Amino acid sequence: MLGDIDIKDLRNLIGTIKELYKYDFSDYAISSFKRRILRILELNKIKSVDELIQKIKCSKDFLEEIIREITVNTTEMFRDPSFWGTLRKDIIPNFSNNHYIRIWHAACSTGEEVFSMCILLKEMNLLDKAIIYATDINENVLKTAKSGIYPIRSLETSNNNYESYQGIQKLSDYYKLSTTNDKVCFDLNLLKNVTFKTHDLVLDSPFSKFDLILCRNVMIYFNFELQNKVVQLFDQSLFKNGNLALGSKETIAWCKAARSFSVISVEDKIYKKITE
Ligand SMILES: C[S@@+](CC[C@H](N)C(=O)[O-])C[C@H]1O[C@@H](n2cnc3c(N)ncnc32)[C@H](O)[C@@H]1O
Repeated sequence: MLGDIDIKDLRNLIGTIKELYKYDFSDYAISSFKRRILRILELNKIKSVDELIQKIKCSKDFLEEIIREITVNTTEMFRDPSFWGTLRKDIIPNFSNNHYIRIWHAACSTGEEVFSMCILLKEMNLLDKAIIYATDINENVLKTAKSGIYPIRSLETSNNNYESYQGIQKLSDYYKLSTTNDKVCFDLNLLKNVTFKTHDLVLDSPFSKFDLILCRNVMIYFNFELQNKVVQLFDQSLFKNGNLALGSKETIAWCKAARSFSVISVEDKIYKKITE
């Protein structure tokens, strides 16, 4: 037994999702996966994993709801302001003489991280050089990202982060209030060099080469084996001297591919690829 759910039931659930749809959660960290499933059972007043499996078999829409819950979409603009300060001061200037700056936001959720990057680059007069790919497993979060429309209540943290980051404008210079006053619409010109696409870090292959990859606050949900595999994917997707940025609680220290990287900032979890 694992808490209130038998681990065999969780494996059955993962197997059913994998069989019927394209998602493979076999290598997600089991304890946080279990917590998500317990929450789903409670929210939907479902009594057992078996009942959950039957519901998933009957409805793709219900499955999509479950996927949203399992994959945790929490995000904010300029999350960890000191990280964005380090990017501005120590990382992006290394690419400023490049013809293009190629950036991949892997697992970008609803796009706040992408808007943060575009604002940072615009304020450094480098946005025109940027070629940005922003990917996520979940099509719905990408729809929000493309729209640039966010609930106004989500902005308090983002505004505070932008202030701590010491951006050169006000964050409000980049958005307009919607007519209903409960949402903001970000300037979509910021996204002019951004391509959004679905990409599953578990199942999909490398698709291009980059100067900088951000994959923040997602590997924390993966088990060690999957973290290893994903860091290998990033190793293959970076140019030599390219950088990899992870979330504040993540590390590549234990991964096989760690030998391809040097540590640029322990606090901000930024690494540099040192091999060809
Ligand atoms: C907590 S959010 C992180 C968002 C942003 N990077 C940040 O740090 O604020 C995690 C994101 O990872 C995505 N995700 C989870 N599993 C994934 C997978 N196998 N492949 C790609 N994205 C995945 C989720 O859909 C979610 O949008």
